[in-house]
Parts: sequence; C-alpha cells; structure tokens
Amino acid sequence: LLVDKANYRHFMAKEIYEQPEVVGQTLARYVDMAAKRIALPLELPFDFNDITRILITACGTASYAGHVAKYWFERLARIPVEIDVASELRYREAPLRKGDLAIVISQSGETADALAALRYAKAQGLHTISVVNVPTSTIARESETVLPTLAGPEIGVASTKAFTCQLMVMAALAIAAGKQRRELSDIDELKLVGELIEVPRLIAEALAIEPQIEKLARDIAKSRAVLYFGRGTSFPVALEGALKLKEVSYIHAEGYAAGELKHGPIALIDESMPVVVIAPYDRVFEKTVSNMQEVAARAGNIILMTDATGASKATVDALVTIVLPDVAATFTPMIYAIAVQLLAYHTAVVMGADVDQPRNLAKSVTVE
Ligand code: AGP
Repeated sequence: LLVDKANYRHFMAKEIYEQPEVVGQTLARYVDMAAKRIALPLELPFDFNDITRILITACGTASYAGHVAKYWFERLARIPVEIDVASELRYREAPLRKGDLAIVISQSGETADALAALRYAKAQGLHTISVVNVPTSTIARESETVLPTLAGPEIGVASTKAFTCQLMVMAALAIAAGKQRRELSDIDELKLVGELIEVPRLIAEALAIEPQIEKLARDIAKSRAVLYFGRGTSFPVALEGALKLKEVSYIHAEGYAAGELKHGPIALIDESMPVVVIAPYDRVFEKTVSNMQEVAARAGNIILMTDATGASKATVDALVTIVLPDVAATFTPMIYAIAVQLLAYHTAVVMGADVDQPRNLAKSVTVE
C-alpha cells in the first residue's frame, strides 16, 4: 500500500487530521460549490416521492453514521427511516416493501453482515444504495447505486475519517430527498448547503482542542469505565465515542440517549465516573443540561463538549468544558465526532495501547 504515516505516530492520528481535506473532497463530489446546490454524482434510478420508508443498515461505526442520517432524513425529507445493524436485519425476516429504498453503509464494502443485508433487501425488491469507501468492493458491485465516500485508504482499525465522510454523503442525500419531496424549498437548500460548505473548515478548527484533550486523556486513562450521552443527533455521536474508546483503550464505555439516564445508568454515577456529555447549543440543549444536573448531583465528573453559547448557558459544574466551533445545529455530528475520536486516541496513547491494531479486532469483518 502506498500509504504511510507521514509524520504521525499512528495511522489513527493521521486519519483524524486528514478529515478537513477528505470531508472537503467528499463535499465537492456532492455539491455544486458555486451554486450552493446539491449535485449528486449520478442520477438516482427512483424518485424519493415514491419511497414510503428508508431502511438503513450497517455495522459498528458505519451504523452510527446511519443513525445520525435517520434524524436527517426524517427532519429534512419527512421520510420514515428504520435503522438496524446488519447482523440483526439479515435474520429477523423484516417485512420490506418492494420499491422502497435500502441504504447500506460500509467503509470496506466487504463486511459479511452488511453484504448479506444488502442481498436480503435486493431480494425483497428494494432499491439499494451503498455508501462505500472502496468503490471496487463487493458491496459496491452488488448494489444498484453506489455513492462513494472520498476518505482515501483508512488503515487504522478504528474508523475515523470514513465516518465523517459517510455523514457528509448522507447529509447531501437527505437534502436531495427533501428537495425532491418539496419538503425543502430552494432557499432551504441554499441555506443547508451553505452550512455544509462550512464543515471542512470547522473540522480543522475543532482539531485545535487537541492539547486540552491530551491533558484530559491522562485522567480518563485512570478510569474503569466512561459514560457518554447526548440527545438527538448527539446520541449516535455518544454511541460512536463509547465504541471508539472501547476499541483503542480497552476502557469500558457506554453511550446513551441522555433521557435514558434515569432509566438505569444513573445508578452507576459516583465520584469515580467520568461522564462525557455531547451537547451543542441546539433545540434539545436545555434538556441535556437537566440530565447533567442529575449527574452533578451524584458527584459524577462531567466532561462537557459544547460550543461557546452552550458553555455560557450550561448551569452546571463541569470538570472540563471543551468548546467546539459554532456549527449549524443540523450538522454538529461532523464536528463533535472529532472530539470523541481525539479523546479515544489520546487515552489509548497514554495507556500504551496498540492504537492502529487493537487486540481482537480486524479492519474488515468478512466472516460472520
Ligand atoms: C470502527 O471503529 C470499527 N472498527 C467497526 O465498528 C467498523 O466500523 C465495522 O466493522 C464496519 O466496517 P465497514 O464500514 O468496513 O463495513
């Protein structure tokens, strides 16, 4: 492979740092930058007005990109979305409607369960789109439409840049769907695409939190477990943050929808429990703040990831507040992902773990 670590210690670090560039390249493939319009790389063989439900399926990190996209398709295009991990979808004999749309997301395009789920959807007569990083892969070859991510080769076993590029493709597709269904006007499209165009630059700005994260990682490395929580599109970011930490540092971590806290996980909170809260200043911010207050009341150590407005409005004592750049509320996952990736990476480095080749994991899971 003609890929090396350049000046980075690990591929994971290099790939985290490549995100402004590769997310920008992906954006440029899906957007007419001058006109600020969505311009998909190819014409879709169906009309979104004929789709009654979208099924999104994938594994691991790719499934969390799908989970974020569910919120986007429902909000921007008013299409109901079902999301399920491919290993469940393939065996649960889900009743699917002929003519609907299935979207399979996969970095490698070779994941056995994702491929089986794609074949199942095809056999049921669904249109199929795959969002893949390897255009020559089996999943790409077998799907009706391929929407590429332009992340370039991803070597680190923990997926980073593929995830943010998947989000970029799904955002563009959700806007295209909203436009076709007339849920979004021309002006809405201009506004949303204008916001998307800002994302690569904001990712670059977000990387500036690294020194603060490095310091925080020294404390996290001493923890036995870490909780992540968020609401709305920050919920899948919490799931991704927890997965990333588990994979590379071997510290037990769980992601939760913030509102679920009092339904169980709050029992875990004491002075030894770090709680990472993903809370950009958006329409559910105040709700998340009240969940944080519940954690603070039980002496949990809050690590608040928010923006400048959120930092000034959060009426709670956080151990650490990480201030990320202001980004349009719809697209926060592409910025907050950077923060959870860096936290996992630095924690693993502090612990001396094998960041690029974590134990027991393979880059692509081609067997069941
Ligand atoms: C991510 O950090 C993981 N290593 C893993 O969850 C991965 O995202 C999953 O196996 C799916 O892989 P794919 O995108 O190549 O299909």
